[in-house]
Amino acid sequence: MKALITSGGKGTRLRPLTHTQNKHLIPIANKPILHYAIEKVADTGIKEIGIVTNQECEEVINEIGDGSRWGVKIRYIPQEAPLGLAHVIKISEDFIGKEPFVFYLGDNMVVGGLERFINAFEGDSVNCYLTLARVKDPERFGVPEIDGNRILRVEEKPRIPKSQFAVAGIYIYDHHIFEAVNSIEPSARGELEISDAHQYLLDHDYKVGFTEITGWWKDTGKPVDLLEANRLILEHQKSEIKGEVDENSFIAGNVVLQPGAKIIDSTIRGPAIIGKNTVVKNSYIGPFTSIYDDCIINNSEVEFSIVLSQCQIIDVGIRIESSLLGKDVQIINAVGKPKTHKFMIGDQSRVELY
Ligand code: G1P
Repeated sequence: MKALITSGGKGTRLRPLTHTQNKHLIPIANKPILHYAIEKVADTGIKEIGIVTNQECEEVINEIGDGSRWGVKIRYIPQEAPLGLAHVIKISEDFIGKEPFVFYLGDNMVVGGLERFINAFEGDSVNCYLTLARVKDPERFGVPEIDGNRILRVEEKPRIPKSQFAVAGIYIYDHHIFEAVNSIEPSARGELEISDAHQYLLDHDYKVGFTEITGWWKDTGKPVDLLEANRLILEHQKSEIKGEVDENSFIAGNVVLQPGAKIIDSTIRGPAIIGKNTVVKNSYIGPFTSIYDDCIINNSEVEFSIVLSQCQIIDVGIRIESSLLGKDVQIINAVGKPKTHKFMIGDQSRVELY
């Protein structure tokens, strides 16, 4: 079995963070989103992964490399234009050959391993295996119409969804998917839709299996959605203290301190992760917070937030909460009311609070 992972897309819904970086490289719990996809695939024992890239692929290639870090071999497959997910599969036929494969959308995150899906795909001898997640807004996704244990139809972003499920971005196929992607026509938005490929398989009596998954995340564009992914991952991390904690500090719950992190006169209440060489002094870091490398948090409080590298949060009198800070952001002290702060700040922003 091989795997195909996507890494393109503009990430427009995650601006301004995506003005300066590919959305697949935004860190969640201090690790780029794309690493999770590669790790999950590598954990199943799959050794050959194709990563499909867009025009601006250098950043991804530089960050991910040849895969040796994960004990896998990575081949980069360029997609010349964003012509749809079925098109991604179409251009990867040479790489996949006749083998079954996992197709993993690199911006999707799921709690737990992929073995259960692969086992079901193999055990049920199906041609295609879909993962479904119950969502509040199915009209944003591919939506199945289900009758008992059968999928009858799959529609892409339907106006009136036929179920509460989204088809999540983790699929397993045998080679018949190539017949599907080579037969379907572009949709009204000019893309070869993955849902149309699934519909083709259903129409031609290929076997399509499925399961419901929980703990699935896909960005929907609001900061709180990235924070939710961060929460999901932090909740499942194990404590690991590789940084320094002075005797006046208090670490509670599930906390990761990466090498070179320094905690001085502070309280860290997990789950939380503090990155390499970040210094937290006379501060409070609350649950579900990821602070990346080389930050300075001084005389401030941060909770349920994601802070990227080289940020400085200094003398901020009110707790920062539900916030996303891009790289090299500075927030410094100010006085006054009302006492609430909510941020979505792009890379290299600077905010002074009054
Ligand atoms: C794509 C697919 C959709 C699927 C979703 C899962 O949507 O077209 O069928 O449900 O991924 O992440 P997109 O995010 O490209 O709009």
